[in-house]
Amino acid sequence: MMSARDVPERSTGPTPPLPETGRFRPRPLAVGVLNYLTNHFVNRVPSYHVRHAWYRRALGVQLHHDAGIHLGCYLWFYGPGQIRRSGVRIGAKTRVNRDCTLDVRGPLSIGDNVSISPEVVILTTQHSLDAPGFPTESRAVVIEDHVWIGMRAMVLPGTTIGRGAVVAAGAVVRGEIPPLTVVAGVPARPVATRPEAALDYDFDWPFPLFE
Ligand SMILES: CC(C)(COP(=O)(O)OP(=O)(O)OC[C@H]1O[C@@H](n2cnc3c(N)ncnc32)[C@H](O)[C@@H]1OP(=O)(O)O)[C@@H](O)C(=O)NCCC(=O)NCCS
Repeated sequence: MMSARDVPERSTGPTPPLPETGRFRPRPLAVGVLNYLTNHFVNRVPSYHVRHAWYRRALGVQLHHDAGIHLGCYLWFYGPGQIRRSGVRIGAKTRVNRDCTLDVRGPLSIGDNVSISPEVVILTTQHSLDAPGFPTESRAVVIEDHVWIGMRAMVLPGTTIGRGAVVAAGAVVRGEIPPLTVVAGVPARPVATRPEAALDYDFDWPFPLFE
C-alpha cells in the first residue's frame, strides 16, 4: 500500500508553459455555461417543446419540428457558432432516444424517420494520431432516411449509413454502410439485408412526457 512518504514531492519550480499551439485554450465562460445548461439542465426538462426550442434557437441545430430528442441526451459542442458552421441537421420524424450522445463538433446529418435507440453514441471528432500537439479533427457523419441504430451502438467519425440500413445493438460502425444492409459486431460487418418494402413507415408517434 502507498504511504504518505511514497507520494512524490511537488516541484517548487516554475510551472512549465503550455505549448504554444493555441490548442489548449480554455473554453470561453459563455460556452461552458451553455454546455452546462444544455447537458445537465435542459436535457432533463420533461418537455419536447422546451428542449426543441433550446436545441434550435440557443444552439443552432437544424432540428425538424417533427423530430424528437428524448431526455438525457448529451450534445458535445464548442459553441453555437461552431454548430452552425459545421451544419447539424436532424430530419422529420426522427427520434433520438434517451441518453444518447451526439458529438456535434463536426458535421452531422441525420435523415427522416431515423430511429436511434437509447444510449447510442455518434462521434464526429477524434484526435489526430500523427500531428504534433494532439489536435482534434472532425469527419462528417451521415445517417440516411429510415436507418435504425440499435441500443448502445457506436458510430465513428466519417461514417455514412445508407438509407434503411440497420445497426445491431452494441455494434461499432465505421466507413460506408450500404443501403438496406444490417450490420453487427465490432467492427460492424454485414449480417443480413432488409427488404425495401420494410421502409414503408412514418414515425407518427406522439411526444410523450418524461421520455
Ligand atoms: C440487428 C437485429 C435487429 C437483427 O435481428 P435478426 O434479424 O433477428 O437477426 P439474427 O438474430 O438472425 O442475427 C443474424 C446474425 O447477426 C448476428 N447478430 C445479430 N445481432 C447482433 C448483435 N447485436 N451483435 C453481434 N451480432 C449480432 C447474429 O449472431 C447472427 O449471426 P449468425 O448468422 O452468424 O448466427 C438485432 O440483433 C438487434 O441488434 N436488435 C437491436 C435491439 C435494440 O437495440 N432494441 C432497442 C430499440 S427498440
